Amino acid sequence: MHKINIGLSEKQRKGVCELLNRDLADAYLLLIKTKKFHWDVIGPQFRTLHELWEEQYEILTETIDAIAERVRMLGFYPIGSAQGFLENATLKEETQAIPTATAMVEKLVYDHELIIRNLREHIDQCSEEFHDEGTADFLTGLMEGHEEMAWMLRSFIEGEAVQAEDPGNQ
Ligand SMILES: [Fe+2]
Repeated sequence: MHKINIGLSEKQRKGVCELLNRDLADAYLLLIKTKKFHWDVIGPQFRTLHELWEEQYEILTETIDAIAERVRMLGFYPIGSAQGFLENATLKEETQAIPTATAMVEKLVYDHELIIRNLREHIDQCSEEFHDEGTADFLTGLMEGHEEMAWMLRSFIEGEAVQAEDPGNQ
């Protein structure tokens, strides 16, 4: 077998792949949650949220594939089982049967923000501890994607708060 010779030791690549596998697990849990909410959402915002979550789970599907393939590029193997994802994720599975539409949005904002904070740490670790600027750059792109998705979701709840607190303007 050809030995990987890209200027990173096996130890460096292994450390980076452990981080990537954790990010993969979180992305998978978020994909499941986003898809379930896409199916279950009801209320006046149905169509908007149903379609937004379709767009977001498509982005997450691409993200997941890109993370897993990056693990392979660095000479290791991605997690590929539901149990493995659960064991390595920082996100928690949804336990409430059917949350309200607003609660669904809040839950997803929380998860995207958690992932953003994790990615920020992983970017630092990749570049400072493992000297892997390629993965640091890759994770920066993913983080920006989550920042955009979190903003789109956050805008829903912020809009509701403005309407609720300003009833005298009609
Ligand atoms: Fe669908």
